[in-house]
Amino acid sequence: MAKQRLDKLLSHEGFGSRKDIKKLLRNSKVTVNGTRISDPSFGIDFENDSIAIDDKEISIHKHIYLMMNKIMHTVSTNKDGEHQTVFDLLADDMRTPYLEDKLHLVGRLDMDTEGLLIFTTDGELTHRLISPKSHIGKTYFCVLEHKETDERKKEIEKLFAEGIEVGPDDNEAGFKCEPADVKWATKSQIKEYTENSSIQEIYNKLESKSFNKDDYTAALLTIHEGKYHQVKRMFAAAGNKVVFLKRISIGKLELDKALKPGEYVFLDDESLEKLNWFILSL
Ligand code: URA
Repeated sequence: MAKQRLDKLLSHEGFGSRKDIKKLLRNSKVTVNGTRISDPSFGIDFENDSIAIDDKEISIHKHIYLMMNKIMHTVSTNKDGEHQTVFDLLADDMRTPYLEDKLHLVGRLDMDTEGLLIFTTDGELTHRLISPKSHIGKTYFCVLEHKETDERKKEIEKLFAEGIEVGPDDNEAGFKCEPADVKWATKSQIKEYTENSSIQEIYNKLESKSFNKDDYTAALLTIHEGKYHQVKRMFAAAGNKVVFLKRISIGKLELDKALKPGEYVFLDDESLEKLNWFILSL
């Protein structure tokens, strides 16, 4: 197995930038298998080597896992000649030649969708999560253009629970969706999910229409597949229109509410367990 630079590894484990690591190596006792190391480029075999800082052993993760609150107007790809990509939002130490081939997205969100996006180097996890066999639940907060009555809400619940037939979109044929679960967002949920978001941009856009920014219908839709524009097509088939879309969870993993659009964090062990819970339950 190829070795990884000590500074890069410590940086990925949350000990700061490469510059911070240089200082750490100078000012603290960093040991690898008991021998003090001050060379930032020292090679680590993370499956077998043991690293300690001031005699306290640190756990080394084989892979990187990041959670981003994707911002609107960014594309979920690595390279795009025209638009800003979600990779452009990562700090320089996440965009090194070493990581370039390995760090990838677990699924995609549309350009105008916000919310939970996972980056990882762990291809096995990605494969399991995005496989058509996975059926992991993904929940979306959806602001609808037209306000729905209680009667219509019941109708939509039934249509989605039975599996709604959606129409074609771009080059994609129409299809019958798997059963999906829709709940109607309460005022406090609307506040919660619009707080760190670009919703104001949508309000401005819809100002002249019949849309009332103080009283509209918003839904929490959970789907177990991920076809092209699926959520938008489902509401279109049910006679409404999604004007703002934000993914708020994947399985048991929820978007960190403190993240502003475009920000990201490393997943901690507890969050990773939530993702793995799904895999273990397969
Ligand atoms: N469904 C959509 O329509 N768009 C997304 O980005 C995700 C799900």
